[in-house]
Amino acid sequence: MALESPITYKGYFSEQDCSVAAFLSLITEPTLISDLRFAAKIEFNIPIYDAQDVKSVLGSSSRQDLLAEWAHVLSERSGIVVLKQAMIDLDAVDEATAVFNNIIKEEQSTTSGGDHFGERGANDRIWNSLQKLCLRNPSLFARYFSSPSIAAISEAWLGPWSQMTAQVNLVRPGGKPQTCHRDYHLGFMPPEQVKRFPSKAHLYSGALTLQGAIAHCNMPIESGPTKLLPNSQRFAPGYIAAQMPDFRKIFEENFVQTTLEKGDALFFSPALFHAAGENRSTDIDRMVNLLQVSSAMGRSLERIDRRAMVSALFPALKKLNLPQEHLTSVISAAAEGYPFPTNLDTDPPIGGLASETQAELLARGLAEDLSIGEFERALHENFRRR
Ligand SMILES: [Fe+2]
Repeated sequence: MALESPITYKGYFSEQDCSVAAFLSLITEPTLISDLRFAAKIEFNIPIYDAQDVKSVLGSSSRQDLLAEWAHVLSERSGIVVLKQAMIDLDAVDEATAVFNNIIKEEQSTTSGGDHFGERGANDRIWNSLQKLCLRNPSLFARYFSSPSIAAISEAWLGPWSQMTAQVNLVRPGGKPQTCHRDYHLGFMPPEQVKRFPSKAHLYSGALTLQGAIAHCNMPIESGPTKLLPNSQRFAPGYIAAQMPDFRKIFEENFVQTTLEKGDALFFSPALFHAAGENRSTDIDRMVNLLQVSSAMGRSLERIDRRAMVSALFPALKKLNLPQEHLTSVISAAAEGYPFPTNLDTDPPIGGLASETQAELLARGLAEDLSIGEFERALHENFRRR
């Protein structure tokens, strides 16, 4: 095996791959209205689609052309799509706002409500607003999620099957801005974890989810609608760059914000550099319901009871006393190595991937020589939290 080779390829990204000049040239590239068939207009490099146009195209033989245009904009152009009045039932939006405000009041006394990218206490969060709204008021949930354009843009990005999750973010007057970031998956990880994923994973991470936001009120700029950096989703080493001071400075100097009206929906690539804005208004409680639509494909073929496997393996591994490298192989074959999906009420990922995975717990249990009883209690706690 030749250790020195003339062959070069990019297996992993690092800070050295993050060229400021390349990024600056990328983010100034315009998206042209003449290149799009269905957009009503472009503002701040963001294509804006009108609900009536979308409705008629979705009911026509051009449906798939519109879906293809959305996918093109999200991946190859600005990375952002605004659907004006995507919510067809504005009364349902208002009624959902009331339900969400009640949930926020109830949860203020009971849960942590941590926000991974915002200052704690400045924002109100409802984790899993999807299930909470559905179980409290199923008919309201049905009216709320009945808008065909939301299903259509999800299909455009992910195909016919997908998995919806949602969280409410409420930023009150004086609420501080978030820091620049990318989103789930790699966007939730600190640089040292991001760099352990091969460059291919950096490219598909953004393809696995569509990020969306439904406006629950009118959002003028002073209320702090999401700050967005068009085209930034196309910067390949962006999961590293989004956490570097130079690139955060570029984000703050170049972001755009678009006003939204109640019932508008904003969709963007999770690889886009973005951040919730500062609410400088005196009287606007800025509420958005954040959506992530996840690919049906990021799943294993078989359903495995990994908790039972880990429980059975722990005593065996204690006796075997394998060398570390062999142990790592066993753990990766048996235990759940990823902290998601989880229950964000009981397991909030404040500051990134905060909670211990089953794989990390198994490794720690062996390293610290926990007793079988101690390990079983920790495993139970790990399961309960999720
Ligand atoms: Fe985000």
